[in-house]
Parts: sequence; structure tokens; C-alpha cells
Amino acid sequence: MNAVPHSPEWSPSSWTSRPAQQQPSYRDPVALKHAVDSLGRLPPIVVSWEVEALRQQIAEAQRGERFLLQGGDCAESFADCDSGQIARKLKILLQMSLVLLHGMKKPVIRVGRFAGQYAKPRSTDTETRDGVTLPCYRGDLVNRPGFTAAEREPDPELLLRGYERAALTLNFVRALVDGGFADLHHPEYWDLGFMKHSPLADQFRQIAASIADSLDFFEAMSGSQVHEASRAPFYASHEALHLLYEQAQTRFIPRSERWYNLSTHLPWIGMRTADLGGAHVEYCRGISNPVGVKVGPSMDAAWVQGLAHTLNPHKEAGRLVLIHRMGAKNVEAKLPGLIESVRATGVPVLWVCDPMHGNTESTAAGVKTRRFENILAELEAAFRVHRAMGSYLGGVHFELTGEEVTECTGGARGLADADLAKDYRSQVDPRLNYEQSLELAMRISTLARSA
Ligand code: PEP
Ligand code: CO
Repeated sequence: MNAVPHSPEWSPSSWTSRPAQQQPSYRDPVALKHAVDSLGRLPPIVVSWEVEALRQQIAEAQRGERFLLQGGDCAESFADCDSGQIARKLKILLQMSLVLLHGMKKPVIRVGRFAGQYAKPRSTDTETRDGVTLPCYRGDLVNRPGFTAAEREPDPELLLRGYERAALTLNFVRALVDGGFADLHHPEYWDLGFMKHSPLADQFRQIAASIADSLDFFEAMSGSQVHEASRAPFYASHEALHLLYEQAQTRFIPRSERWYNLSTHLPWIGMRTADLGGAHVEYCRGISNPVGVKVGPSMDAAWVQGLAHTLNPHKEAGRLVLIHRMGAKNVEAKLPGLIESVRATGVPVLWVCDPMHGNTESTAAGVKTRRFENILAELEAAFRVHRAMGSYLGGVHFELTGEEVTECTGGARGLADADLAKDYRSQVDPRLNYEQSLELAMRISTLARSA
């Protein structure tokens, strides 16, 4: 952590004067410049008034009036940019939001980890297999996962391919929502697909039926349809890791006289790049989007206070989202002090719990996994700690998929270590599958009620 004060001047490229972690090294500067320049000329993926609407909703969540659900893949892949997978990802987020809405009786802000989640921080720059050392895979925005020198070479063209995939994804999401996919009357809400035989199916059907009854009642009474709920948008988010990509999509909006990152609604700073004096904090402090920061167990009071002051110097509502990812065993010890330190700054924040990234482990066979019971334990502890401190835990952040994968163990079906091999697809972190995700939403709505 380097606490050199930030100068008041900021520009989309002022981060280049700071140490930048996790950036790929490209071999051909001319090709890189060409790709970044092209990206800078292309239209934005989102628009500033959507970003402002989200900021407003986050401000409401900070006051306890909304709850935020953020979820999606650890890393999106270009190959998975297909209609079925995108629709299934929306569907699980929709169904989870319905369960949360029912349990908490407050509107849910739905934010996908999608349409740009293509760059990954790595713990080492290189990977060695059988004596061969190559650059590590940094996500489809940078290079390719195959273990050959050609595939691991960072390729500037991928910045453009990533931008295009992000735009295609969000275009499809918008069309689905406009076409009624997120309408409470739409069957997607109620269809449980392959989960029909799950022990959770009955509970979900009861929740769905209870909401349908309330809707029918309201619509019969008022003679009108509930439109507000039917068009609730999905916002996009990704880790703002690859700073040339983010910079190229940063635009000045004369009407509001503010800079926005228009590659996504909600960019976040990952734990490995949250140094106070680092390039990522410098870049994010100048954009007007709501900004998330991952808060890990090694952060101390001075660090989170520095983040709060630097990223939200004017104490604006809806601006800062702190996503704690402590690990089940660290929450009770670490979280109270952090809540207290942030409170002392007077900077408003939305607290969100990511129960995934502090609970990653390897099985005896060396498979990267997460255990459902640890994920749940971190959530339980987080709700408990916030309640005990008079603070509001206003959201959750998951790595999940709408597919029937076997990457995390546990859950109602009791997936064991030996089951992981059945359908393990992630190139990076293990995700909750459809059924595990829905089960967690049910558990959270009970936890939040008792909180
Ligand atoms: C992630 O969200 O995929 C991630 C890398 O998280 P963190 O920065 O919290 O480790
Ligand atoms: Co991850």
C-alpha cells in the first residue's frame, strides 16, 4: 500500500504516472496503440443516464431501501457469448431477485458480472508446466487459455473483440428485458428447468405462487398492470483491471460536466489492485460511475479510510460500494473494525458481501473449489456482524452460472469432491451452479429478515 496523496488534477490517463499492477506486456506497441485508438472511437456500451440511475438506486440501498444482487462468471469467455448461456444467466439472476424481493420486501438492484468481465488478475505472471514457462492466462481480453507460446502471447486485437462481445451481450440482455423477459408475468420467472426434481423446487414454487397471487390481487383491484416491476433493468459490471481498455471507453459528458466509464455501469477495483497509491485507484477516483472496491482480510483501518476519502472525497451518496470478501473464518474478527473505521470517515458506502473469494480451496486431488457451507457461513456471519454494529449489509456478490456445472461442493444435492469432475468448466474460479445459487437466495432472504 502506497499512500502518496493524489493530486487534484485527474485525466483518463493520469493513472499512467502510478504503479499499475496486473497489466499485460504487449510486444508490439504500434498494434496496441492502434487497438486502443480504435476502441476510443467506438460508441459507448452504456450511457451516462443509466449510470446515474444506478447511482441513485445504490444511494437508496445505502439507506436500507434496496438490496443489491451482483452475480455472474468469475471470467466470461468469448466462446460462451451465446444466446442460451446469456439467457440462462439472466434467468438465475431474475429468479434469485424474485426470492430476495419476496423475503426482504424491498426492491432488488440486479447487476450482472457480465458484458466486459474478460480480464483477470493472477497471482503470478508466468505458469510453468513440465519445465516450460509461459505468460499466464489473463482472460480473453488479453490472451488465450491454451498452453502454447502463441496462445499466451498478449494480443491487442482481443481488446476490440472483448468490446464487441460485451456490446453483443448487453444488446441481447436489453432486448430480452424490453421484450418482457423480466416481466413478472413471463414464464421464465417460474420455469425451473432441470431443477424440477430438486428438494428446493417446492419452496421456490410457493414463493412464486405467493407473488403471483399478490400481483393478481393488485392488478384486479387497480385495473392496471404492474409495469415498474416488469421493466426493471439489469446493470452491467466488471473488474476495471485492464486500464487501457477502461481509459479508451472513458468519456466526458458536457451536459453534466463529468467523466464516465461507459464500458459498464459499475466498475470495481479488485483486491490485488486496490493499493491507495496505485493506478487503479487513481483511474477510478476521476470517473463518476458508482465504483466498487473489494475489501480483503489484509486491509487495515488506514487503508479502507484512505479508499473512502480518495474515491469519495465529496461524500456523495451512491458512489462507493465496498465489497468485503473475508473468508468465513475471518469475518467476525476483521469486519467490525472495518465498519467502524469507514463509519468514522463520514463517507457513505454500500456494504456488500462477496462470500466466494475468501473461501477458495483445493481438494485433495488438487481441484479448485468452494464449499457451500463456507459460503453460507460467511454470509451468516456478515449479516450478524452488520446487525450487531447497527450497519446495513445491502447486497451480495456471487460467482455463479445458470448452467448445471459441478464446481462448488455442497448444497441441497450434496455435491461431493468426487462429483466435481462431472462437469467442471471454469478456467478460473469455481462458480455456484443454478440450483446452488437459488438455494443461497432462499437462505439469504431468511438471514436478511432475521438481521
Ligand atoms: C474476482 O472477483 O473474480 C476477484 C478476483 O476477486 P478479488 O479481487 O476479491 O480477489
Ligand atoms: Co473470481
